[in-house]
Amino acid sequence: MPLVTTTEMFKKAYTGGYAIGAFNVNNMEIVQGITEAAREVNAPLILQVSKGARAYANHTYLVKLVEAAVIECPNIPIALHLDHGPDFETCKSCIDGGFTSVMIDASSKPFEENIEITKQVVAYAHDHGVVVEAELGTLAGIEDDVQVSAEDSSYTRPEEVQEFVEKTGCDSLAIAIGTSHGAYKFKPGTKPQLRFDVLEEVEKRLPNFPIVLHGSSSVPQEFVEMINANGGNMPGAIGVPEDQLRKAASMAVCKINIDSDLRLAMTGTVRQFFAQHPDKFDPREYLKPARSAIKEMVKHKLINVLGCDGKA
Ligand code: G3H
Ligand code: 13P
Ligand code: ZN
Repeated sequence: MPLVTTTEMFKKAYTGGYAIGAFNVNNMEIVQGITEAAREVNAPLILQVSKGARAYANHTYLVKLVEAAVIECPNIPIALHLDHGPDFETCKSCIDGGFTSVMIDASSKPFEENIEITKQVVAYAHDHGVVVEAELGTLAGIEDDVQVSAEDSSYTRPEEVQEFVEKTGCDSLAIAIGTSHGAYKFKPGTKPQLRFDVLEEVEKRLPNFPIVLHGSSSVPQEFVEMINANGGNMPGAIGVPEDQLRKAASMAVCKINIDSDLRLAMTGTVRQFFAQHPDKFDPREYLKPARSAIKEMVKHKLINVLGCDGKA
């Protein structure tokens, strides 16, 4: 089947009490690892591309890699999504260039300005059959070249969501409930806890509306340890506990964004390979186990965390 939008995926995920995995792609091995996992467990999928990914790999290469995955996985629905679109022009370029979904992230702007920018993107996207994710609230961590400190981050204010969605016409909404981007989400020694009270309040005010969670890597300690045991230095890397993501997926959260876990799986595996094989220099030899590690990790997420296996 051709690339799809997220509309049907989200409807089914909402009523089915599961979430769709949205995984960031930057190169061929990452695309292959993710899509082979989804194909094996028959899961719908969102492949997403950031501004940084477009700068690194080039828009056309990424679209063509995703189109190749669509050909290789004819039985699973796949959406191609722009992650953290910074402005109208970037969203337009992706809409014109074959994406089926875009995010406009004007969450750092004042409320009214966020509404105006989002509305403009929604008008253009809907005219072209593309859906739009918007964001209210600010996550801590690094996105592209923007670093938001924990002090400057803020939870979504539930009293704002209804007006925002009504005025913008967006198709899904990313909210801030304590997740953050990157591999250092919580201070070591503290208990990671998402604000389910905020999610519940949002859910009440926006019945049947798909909610998105960014910053949802769980930072598997096996990969952190693999990195640290093989020349890396990532002390105190901590993610979102998987049982809390599972709970969010059973609620209004229909899309869960995962990027850092892919990076950790790839980096850990490559570091271990070089430590064990200092004489090797063929990229296929070290990228092959990295791709397999991504595949296994994604399979685990699809089945045990998102609950979307068998839902394609
Ligand atoms: O939320 C950000 C994603 O992890 C993408 O990261 O901007 O480094 O590609 P990136
Ligand atoms: P992580 O850094 O937790 O993987 O978050 C990814 C993300 O939100 C992409 O938009
Ligand atoms: Zn994000």
